[in-house]
Amino acid sequence: MKVGFLQTLPIFGKKDKNVDNTVALIKKLDANLIVLPELFNTGYQFISKSETLSLAEKIPEGETIRALIDIAKEKKLFIVAGIAEREDKHCYNSAVLVGHNGFIGCYRKLHLFRDEKKWFEPGSKGPGVFDIGNVKVGMMICFDWFFPEVARYLALKGADIICHPANLILPYCPQAMVTRCIENRVFAITANRVGIEKRSEESLTFIGTSQILGTKGEILCRASIDKEDAMVVEIDPGSARDKQITPLNHIFNDRQIKFVSNE
Ligand code: ACM
Repeated sequence: MKVGFLQTLPIFGKKDKNVDNTVALIKKLDANLIVLPELFNTGYQFISKSETLSLAEKIPEGETIRALIDIAKEKKLFIVAGIAEREDKHCYNSAVLVGHNGFIGCYRKLHLFRDEKKWFEPGSKGPGVFDIGNVKVGMMICFDWFFPEVARYLALKGADIICHPANLILPYCPQAMVTRCIENRVFAITANRVGIEKRSEESLTFIGTSQILGTKGEILCRASIDKEDAMVVEIDPGSARDKQITPLNHIFNDRQIKFVSNE
């Protein structure tokens, strides 16, 4: 299976341009699954709730999802993309999965980072795991990486590949995701953006470093910190089903939850 990411440089608020540029890049790729950054169509640094409401879209009716479904049909591939979702007066920082048969699923970010808490509400459901052919994919969004239970939850639900749209600012995630993959024996695709946004007093620099990781934490490919990029690698997603670390150690069966859970 060929899996990849786009590392893009969205311009805040220019949704048509951001979507058109991304679709043009997807057209050139040869892949079965592509992951796009968090909020890839709108940009990141919202400055008011009304602005967020005006840029967010209904899922799955919104125009961004329509454009993604069209290119997924044309290229016969699956796409995971981060977009701002609107439902009535509520906004969510969401990720969608679409394929050649249309819309498949959505995940609303649970762990909102800093000012996101002013514009978005957190999701109220655990992330789903979806079948794409024989492969199971799960989605988490950016700062969810800081909460290892999210990747564990997805792995326990059977995800072979964790798709991780991101707009990373802190530097730790690319290394931390290596551990998420080792401890869960899953593949992970982190699609981050590059560039700087300064729509308020504060300037935000996104760290790029999008990457695809193997089930033992191998860095199968990693992009630069500051350039747009597209990378695709071939993986065997079935290898994520082997959770046996030694003949006597199984990642999930060996857990001793009753002694180490504070819940
Ligand atoms: C983030 O969650 N966008 C840092």
